[in-house]
Amino acid sequence: MAHSPRKGSPARWAAVILPPLCLGGLLAWTADIFSPAAISPSHFMQRFHNAGAPGDGFRRAHAKGMCTTGWFDPSPEGRALSRSGIFRGEHLPVMGRFSLAPPLPYLPDNPAVARSLSMQIRSPSGDDWRLALVDAPLQSMRDIADAYAFFGAAKLDPATHRPDPVAVQAYAAQRPWLKTAFEQAKAHKQTSDLTNDTYNSLDSFILTDEAGKKTAVRWAAVAQEPFSPADGSGANDGNYLFKRLVQTLDQRPLRWDIVATVAREGDPVNDSSQPWDNADQKVTVGTVTFTKAYSEDESPCGPMVFDPTILPDGISASDDPLLALRSSVYMRSYATRSAEHKAPSMVTPGDVASPTLTQDEKGQ
Ligand code: HEM
Repeated sequence: MAHSPRKGSPARWAAVILPPLCLGGLLAWTADIFSPAAISPSHFMQRFHNAGAPGDGFRRAHAKGMCTTGWFDPSPEGRALSRSGIFRGEHLPVMGRFSLAPPLPYLPDNPAVARSLSMQIRSPSGDDWRLALVDAPLQSMRDIADAYAFFGAAKLDPATHRPDPVAVQAYAAQRPWLKTAFEQAKAHKQTSDLTNDTYNSLDSFILTDEAGKKTAVRWAAVAQEPFSPADGSGANDGNYLFKRLVQTLDQRPLRWDIVATVAREGDPVNDSSQPWDNADQKVTVGTVTFTKAYSEDESPCGPMVFDPTILPDGISASDDPLLALRSSVYMRSYATRSAEHKAPSMVTPGDVASPTLTQDEKGQ
C-alpha cells in the first residue's frame, strides 16, 4: 500500500529528487557505459522494485500518470538554433504524459511529490522528438555510480514503507558535489497544480543549425498559467492534481513555452547536478498547446517510452553520462512492463470525459 509522503519526511525527500526521476540503450551498452561492469539495467530494475515499483505493467519510475494531446508551434528563434524539421513545421501533433515521479502507480496526489511532463513531437517528414522533463531544478546525481547509489537509498523499509532515513542522509552526506542540488530542491516552491508547473530536462542537449554550428542547451517547458503556490487543497482526493488537469482542459487549452537555456563558456554541459550561469540567454523555441486529456489505459501514450535520446536530426544528446544511462534503463523498463499484464491505472477512463481519439492521435 502506497503512503503519501509528509512534509520533511524521507519519502518527500525521495519524491522531490526522484527524477528527479531502444537503440540508444544498445549503443550505450556496447559503448560500455556501465562501469564497473557489475551494474546493468537489470540491477536498476531490482532497485526500482525495492523502492516500491510493483511491476503489473507499470513504468518502473513515474508510474502514476495520464495522457494529453495537442500540438507544437515552433518559433523563428527555434529555427535559427536547430536545423531540425520540428522547427520548420507548424501545428505539429504532440502526445503528452503528466506523471508523479515515484515508482508507485497508486500514490495519492499530494503537494510534496515531484511531478513530470513527457512529450513526443512529430513532424510530417518523420522527425520524432521525445522529452522527459521533471519539475526539480537540478539533478540529485551526476553519474552512473551516483544513480545506482541513489536508487539504492530509495529502498523501502518493509516496516515503515518508507526509505531508511539513515541511508538517505548517508547518500547526501557522502556527496558534497550535490550540495547545491539539495539546497535548490529544498528552496523549490511547488505550484498548486500540474497546469501551472514548469518542467525541466536537467540533462543538456546539442542543437545543430543549418551551417553546422552547435549550441548546448537545457530545456524547460514553462507554463503560461500564472504561478500559485501549492496549498494542499484537494489533498483529500487522491487524484486531485490529475482531475484538475482534466477539468481545466475541459474549459480551455493549456500552453507551455518550450525554452532553451543556452550554455555559455564554463557551464557544465555534462553534469546535470550543477547550476548554469543565471545570466544565460533563454530562447523560446516554440509553444506546446494541450487540449484533451485521456487515461493512460486508453491512449497510445500509456505504452510509449519517452526515451530522451530519441531525437530528430538537428538535436543530439550531450555527453552527460546520465542520458545514455537513462536510455538503457528506460528501454529495459519498457521491455519488462510490455511483457506484463497491465493492471488498471489509478486515473481511470472514468475520471476523464473520454473524448474519442482522432486518427492522428492514434497514429503512433
Ligand atoms: C535528468 C534526469 C531525469 C529526468 C528529467 C527524468 C525524467 C523522467 C520522466 C519524465 C519519466 C516519465 C516518462 C513517461 O512519462 O513515460 C521518466 C521515466 C523513467 N525514468 Fe527517468 N528521469 C531522469 C533520470 C533518471 C535516471 C538516472 C534513471 C535511472 C537510472 C531513470 C529511470 C527511469 C525509468 C525506469 C522510467 C520509466 C521508463 C518507462 O518504462 O517508460 N530516470 N523519467
